Amino acid sequence: MSKGVERERVLVLCALPYTNAVPHVGNLVGSHLPADIFARYCRLKGKETLFVGATDENGTPTEVAALELGVTPQELTDTMYRVHREIYKWFEISYDNFSRTSTPTHHKTSQEFFLKIYANGYISEGVLRLPYCEKDKLFLPDRYVEGTCPVCGYELARGDQCEKCSTLLDPIQLINPRCKVDGSVPVFKDSKQLFLELGKVQDRLQAWIGSNQAWKGQVTSLALGWLKEGLKKRSITRDLRWGVPVPLDGYRDKVFYVWFDAPIGYISATKEWGDARGDPRAWERFWTDERTRIYNFLGKDNIPFHTIFWPGMLFAHGGLNLPYDVVGLQFCNYEGDKISKSKNWGVFCENIPQAGLDPDIWRYYLIGIIPETRDTEFKWDDFKNKVNNELVANLGNFIHRTTTFAWNNFGGEATVDGVAGDEKALIDGVARLGEESLALLGEVRFREAMSKLLAMADLGNEYFQSKQPWKLVKTQKEECARVIHACLMACESIAIVLQPFLPASSAKILDLLGTHDRGVSGLWKHRPHVQLSAKPEVPFRKLEDDQLEAAKKLATKSRPASDYFKR
Ligand code: MF3
Ligand code: ZN
Repeated sequence: MSKGVERERVLVLCALPYTNAVPHVGNLVGSHLPADIFARYCRLKGKETLFVGATDENGTPTEVAALELGVTPQELTDTMYRVHREIYKWFEISYDNFSRTSTPTHHKTSQEFFLKIYANGYISEGVLRLPYCEKDKLFLPDRYVEGTCPVCGYELARGDQCEKCSTLLDPIQLINPRCKVDGSVPVFKDSKQLFLELGKVQDRLQAWIGSNQAWKGQVTSLALGWLKEGLKKRSITRDLRWGVPVPLDGYRDKVFYVWFDAPIGYISATKEWGDARGDPRAWERFWTDERTRIYNFLGKDNIPFHTIFWPGMLFAHGGLNLPYDVVGLQFCNYEGDKISKSKNWGVFCENIPQAGLDPDIWRYYLIGIIPETRDTEFKWDDFKNKVNNELVANLGNFIHRTTTFAWNNFGGEATVDGVAGDEKALIDGVARLGEESLALLGEVRFREAMSKLLAMADLGNEYFQSKQPWKLVKTQKEECARVIHACLMACESIAIVLQPFLPASSAKILDLLGTHDRGVSGLWKHRPHVQLSAKPEVPFRKLEDDQLEAAKKLATKSRPASDYFKR
């Protein structure tokens, strides 16, 4: 088969969230939501699409959080997994499989992955001086050691990575290290560990990163910057119990470093999806067939792991697909400051379902603050203005005025024997903008894609206004029917393009319009006969101040993690 006629295949991956916290809106707009819109876009375009994710449950983040909460890692992850899954479900994040890195499949997949790169000669043994807290009697997880970054001088750098300059660190490199849990000064003790020889894949990484077409400039230049410094070997094992056991003599009492097993979770989640469908080899289509394009969505702090460390693991393994695009997103702040759970500053997802607003209302506002190229900000004023002025007054208004007019004056029916002139210009103009919106989605440019969608509604509103159907209906009923038919077709195109953005609302509108063909080809169809299926309802209601106040009150209060474990 030639390449052109085959269905494109896409694997959409969202960075696996840790289970030590409940997601906030910054997490949503920084990975899950853009990944979801993109996956829905791919399905709409008829591509063979798989979208998977999981909770990242192993290693130190979990062990320490469990310690702090006085529960077992098992109790912590069981509960947090459910909390995460319910939140993503509520926001209609359309995971085909949302798994966990504690599953037997994941443990097996990670161990096999390791044994392969071990056999390939990319693993070396060595001794690591690790931070040990004499007070808590345990080796401290990298990220629980804090100190001054040796590269940029930032004083609150974490042992695994400096949040300021993104440099990957080892805790021993920190100047003035402190235990983050109790503030004591850790001692460094020798411990035998395994290392991934990243230096051996440096050249291949260099060539691959340098030749990529899809990545945003800022992601490529960050990655090339790290390569320039030269890659050193990196430890991939830890002295912990909670995680994936290392399947090698001399190391069986240790587990893998969480950043080693977590990205393998992308493969495990794909496998499980196939297993559940009775197709245990399905994962190979996504991971070994080179024609599959893998899109990774993640926050900027995860960029080094997805452009260097994980691809380095993939090179060492061989035979598996590398990411096609690494969509690194910036951060989303809240009302002028960084989102912080401990300072109770932000919009927290756990109470949003009770806050009285539909998921699509949230999705609409959140799409506008997806931090594609720079940090963005959640602001309640903006929330209200964007929803009321754009979604309600423009898009919603066009759909509602068209459908109610059709219902009240024509019993919801519009039939024409052909489309020409101004009507054809409207329908085609709207379809063209729709194609442009989708093309932007294909380039992972969500906010611009959304403004094209609004432009479709603008065009519809202008046409409606200029034709004045409320006058026509009294004097030229047939002409009026043609106008309304064209407007209904424009509504249909808008609703088709709306699917990846606001899935529930677009489904309602398409049901109302009686649209069967909801694929992209439906954009260009001039259906000669339309019959509304019911009396139209307002698609989006204006947000009132008291309503927004109530939502704000609930959504800005974060629930302490201990709340989930009250006995
Ligand atoms: N759990 C990590 C974080 O929240 C992300 C892991 S992404 C994966 O920062 F690639 F490892 F899966
Ligand atoms: Zn730094």
